[in-house]
Amino acid sequence: MAATRVILTGFMGTGKTAVGKKLAGKLHYRFLDTDLLLEKEKGKPVSKIFEEEGEPAFRKYEKAVLQKALTEEKVVIATGGGTIVDPENLKLMKEKGVLITLAADPEVILQRIGHSSKRPLLQADDKMARIQELLEQRQGFYQQAHHAIDTSQKSVEEIVEEIAKILKGGPHG
Ligand code: S3P
Repeated sequence: MAATRVILTGFMGTGKTAVGKKLAGKLHYRFLDTDLLLEKEKGKPVSKIFEEEGEPAFRKYEKAVLQKALTEEKVVIATGGGTIVDPENLKLMKEKGVLITLAADPEVILQRIGHSSKRPLLQADDKMARIQELLEQRQGFYQQAHHAIDTSQKSVEEIVEEIAKILKGGPHG
């Protein structure tokens, strides 16, 4: 039987939103994106929240939105790239669903999101160095998910198929 909640984690630009949407369609689940839920609730984009209120406030809102999302059933939840760094968030995500990391090479990440101004944490002169630094800091968290998929060379469809196979395979799958 399929899991009640599928939760996607992973660095910015690894495809959580695109994959999550498509996966939800395939499973006939609802798709929730914690960043979008947060933006809706606060009435402003994530970048503005960082700018006006700072990262600690954003993390507090993020945690509350995640906790609420995890009370829903039959959902695919795409989380923000830094959500998993909070130990309580990590624990809860693992308890409440199948937690899957989407990974990608730094070069691919840079290519996918390097030009976007939507990611406050990547507004650095040397974006590649920033990506590598953050990836290094977060590696240990992403590794704690139940499953991981390298998305670097895969299409959204291929990733969705891979996840669907995982979901057929056991208590955390
Ligand atoms: C963040 C990732 C973003 C968003 C915020 C912080 C992070 O989400 O939550 O900018 O800390 O990695 P995406 O991973 O969807 O870009």
